Amino acid sequence: MAYEIKPLPGPLGAEVVGLDLKTPLSAEVAAAINRAFADNIVLVFRDQDLTAQQLLAAAEGLGEPMIQHLSQFKVPECPLVSYVSNQEKTDTGAPKLLGKAWHTDHSFQREPPKATMLHGVELPRQGGDTWFANMRLAYEELPGALKHRVEGLDAIHAYRESREIMSRDERGAEMLSDEQERATGIVHPVVRTHDERGSRSIYINPLRIKRFIGMGPDDSTDLLAELTAHATGDAFTHAHAWARGDVVLWDNRQSLHRVEHNYDLAEKRLMHRIILKGDAPK
Ligand code: OGA
Ligand code: MN
Repeated sequence: MAYEIKPLPGPLGAEVVGLDLKTPLSAEVAAAINRAFADNIVLVFRDQDLTAQQLLAAAEGLGEPMIQHLSQFKVPECPLVSYVSNQEKTDTGAPKLLGKAWHTDHSFQREPPKATMLHGVELPRQGGDTWFANMRLAYEELPGALKHRVEGLDAIHAYRESREIMSRDERGAEMLSDEQERATGIVHPVVRTHDERGSRSIYINPLRIKRFIGMGPDDSTDLLAELTAHATGDAFTHAHAWARGDVVLWDNRQSLHRVEHNYDLAEKRLMHRIILKGDAPK
């Protein structure tokens, strides 16, 4: 199959043109796609029309799909594929819209997924873009003083730790020592080295970092805000405007992402989602 990898204008992303993901990738093509993926951080395949099973088969050519923790969102006949839907409701009946703030997927796990794959199944007529930020470039462009501060720094990630909803008192009350956090929590470096490219990236999760090792909650909040503001600046970001049939694959090791729910919520937005196993960040 003849195909082409066309880098998108902007700080990250490439479109893979001419591959039908229904057809199994040869080992050679899979290796080339994986290299392009590591280099470009986001890959876009347009005009794919895949069942959950076919999406899974395509993902298996690129990595090892892993089970996702929110079991209510799994596709029943194909549990390695889950839904991302804007039709979910909270207990009060309000729309439950996930992924609005910048994050990298599942950083509260010891071995977070290296990649996430979304397939656009049903989309609003316009809007609902997914935004990506290039953490490799953001690291390269860190101002010297900030680069120095994050060198060798570790962060504590936790699932229930949405900094947006946790009060300062709450954070203080359950403060564990650095040693306890290292023993019981999930601690990842703030600068990680890509296992395939050897390049360095900022690895933060503005939604899930509890605090930095050696720092209290308030100083951590300030540093996290400073890093996030830098890392999500215009020079590093790109929005993917969805069309039905798109498959988008992103590298959680070297990007942040968020979705913008700027469309009529009466319109359905449904994706199929697969995550690919990754190593512990180093
Ligand atoms: C995700 C996610 C964003 C989107 O699936 O992890 O953040 O655009 N999705 O739906
Ligand atoms: Mn996400």
